[in-house]
Amino acid sequence: MLVRNLFIEQSKEKQDIRIKDGKFSEIGANLAPAPGEETIDADGKLALPPFIDVHMHLDTCLTAGEPRWNMSGTLFEGIEIWSERKQTLTKQDVKDRATRALRMQVSNGIQHVRTHVDITDPSLTALEALLELKEEIRDFAELQIVAFPQEGILSFPNGRQIMENAVKNGAEVVGAIPHYEFNREYAVESVHFAVGLAEKYGKLVDAHCDEIDDPASRGLEVLATLAYETGMKDMVTASHTCAMQSYDNGYAFKLFRLLRMSDINFVANPLVNDLIGGRTDAYPKRRGLTRVKALCENGNNVAFGHDVIYDPWYLLGTGNMLDVVHMGLHAAQTVGYSDIADSYRYVTHNAAKALHLGDSYGIKVGNDANLIVFDAKDFFEALNKRAVVLYNWRFGKLISRGAPAAKEVFF
Ligand code: FE2
Repeated sequence: MLVRNLFIEQSKEKQDIRIKDGKFSEIGANLAPAPGEETIDADGKLALPPFIDVHMHLDTCLTAGEPRWNMSGTLFEGIEIWSERKQTLTKQDVKDRATRALRMQVSNGIQHVRTHVDITDPSLTALEALLELKEEIRDFAELQIVAFPQEGILSFPNGRQIMENAVKNGAEVVGAIPHYEFNREYAVESVHFAVGLAEKYGKLVDAHCDEIDDPASRGLEVLATLAYETGMKDMVTASHTCAMQSYDNGYAFKLFRLLRMSDINFVANPLVNDLIGGRTDAYPKRRGLTRVKALCENGNNVAFGHDVIYDPWYLLGTGNMLDVVHMGLHAAQTVGYSDIADSYRYVTHNAAKALHLGDSYGIKVGNDANLIVFDAKDFFEALNKRAVVLYNWRFGKLISRGAPAAKEVFF
């Protein structure tokens, strides 16, 4: 198959892409169609590697209002409601909802999802469901599963053993939630435990870290120290790090040296962080988003995630990474020309780095033919008009297709 006249990422010249046997076989200007070859004229549209949702909770998606609504909109009420909803989980319930959420994501050009799965449920129902789904949906999306201790590791009965069981059963990434542990000692110990477990089984780490306005929440310095000292470095990701918004600059200055040395990845979740941050403040109100611009300037890799879709924490969401980037640029105040032009990286290349996808990700000859084409000429336009994904190819096969919404104005 030959797809003609694409602007690939920020290229100023139109290029053609040839796909053969599920791989990109040729990329260049004015490729000649072979006799009988299927040819699509993209007419100057934007092509990107598939979107990545680097931070999602597929097990909680689409449960908003069950068994009750989150009336305060806070993270902690959300955790309470989820712990009630969790009592009624079945494998089929998780698979059905996760599949519906994945369909929304795939329709918006997402092909990779790192999903945190709550394992503070000794039956590990959700983990089992998502491990099965991972195999079943491989042709449409790649799941990377994090053992996520929603109610803590040391603060949950038998938490350490459940975490190890989750990893033995197939979780690929070790999580943690130090800011939710009962006390500072538990928080520190939980991070030591998570990194130790990842080292023991050769796994990545992605900790929910300091998702709180408390300036004394300093799980990040422990995580970064361990990433540096164990040599795990960019195998480690710190998600959220909202408390950094509240750190004084004297401490942040010291911390940033360690962050640079540790080379860890950061994941900000602009939709949810902005909703939850500063909820207990009067005025002035703090923002919830971590220091995106400063982290990028510090040389740390920063990616953006959607986090959740229509669940006890967040009653909105359509699984569209364009919404995530749009919100993130505003909240991080990164709205210069090149900030916007480059911003697709938060949900493509930067996310791929956090997921450790390596050279297999991206539009280049020899890679799997995974590609999305927007109804827009560049990312500026795609972002601003929330352009639909016209074509979403995976292994050279079309897995979703969109059409521009028709609008008529009568003046
Ligand atoms: Fe999360």
